[in-house]
Amino acid sequence: MAAISTLGYVCVSASNLDAWESFAVDILGLHAERRDGGRTLALRMDEYEQRILIAEGVDDDMVAAGWKFDTADALETFVLQLGKRGIRAERCDAALLASRRVERAYTCVDPDGMQHEFFYGPAYAPASRPFRSKVLLGRFVTGELGIGHYVSAAKDYAATIAFHEDVLGLKISDHIRAPLETPMGTIPFDGTFFHTETGRHHSFATAQIPFPKRIHHVMIEVSDFNDVGLAHDRCIAAGVPIMMGLGHHPNDGMFSFYCVSPSGFAIEFGSGGLVVDDRTWEVRTYSQLSDWGHKSPAR
Ligand SMILES: [Fe+2]
Repeated sequence: MAAISTLGYVCVSASNLDAWESFAVDILGLHAERRDGGRTLALRMDEYEQRILIAEGVDDDMVAAGWKFDTADALETFVLQLGKRGIRAERCDAALLASRRVERAYTCVDPDGMQHEFFYGPAYAPASRPFRSKVLLGRFVTGELGIGHYVSAAKDYAATIAFHEDVLGLKISDHIRAPLETPMGTIPFDGTFFHTETGRHHSFATAQIPFPKRIHHVMIEVSDFNDVGLAHDRCIAAGVPIMMGLGHHPNDGMFSFYCVSPSGFAIEFGSGGLVVDDRTWEVRTYSQLSDWGHKSPAR
């Protein structure tokens, strides 16, 4: 069976690209390039032409997930398999391929309205335009593990789980069912975490939580844990709101904090995430979201 290799990119529709550019470059340490006469912001994390594509728009939300296949054959086989499951994936036209900087892609939409783009052949930046971070000590953890993960606030939790497991073929890593303390009080949290072939603990998770956006957060990972603390310091100094302070998750082992992006959803900035080995992995259910920390500053 053809399987998704990893989460290769994400696309965001945002109303304030200037705010995103300074947030991405000065706070997160990403490398930004403006395109389309300034109406698109391509954010780089490594040698890829782009990893987070932010287009001027009104959604202020994530609008598409780019799932990578390692070969054209694997991509075509996967699309045929989708068809057998009753999911028609449209072949992307030249304009969309150019925008995504990929060789070939197909697209379909999930029950939450998220566009999924299945692609092969990402463009790499030339050596004359190397990735440069203004602030990182280390590097972003990408490569075969992809850009990180995103977490959806599902409208229909069961349908979202079924789509990602049965249609996309992602594997369940684990579940967390725990009381979640929020500024509005304690609510029950139920989350399911999914990994792809290359094993980042989760490239996608979905949770039954009240949140006004399609996604709750996008996570990006750094190699040096000091960069997590330094990014946290930069948020405080610049007045970027902290959604949840420094903490540690029991399931993926991530040391991280969550800050509020200019579009209102969060960016989780972390280090030390686990990689799943399917030969020995055991699916567990955890009873707490964090071993320590990740407190809302409003509490
Ligand atoms: Fe996360």
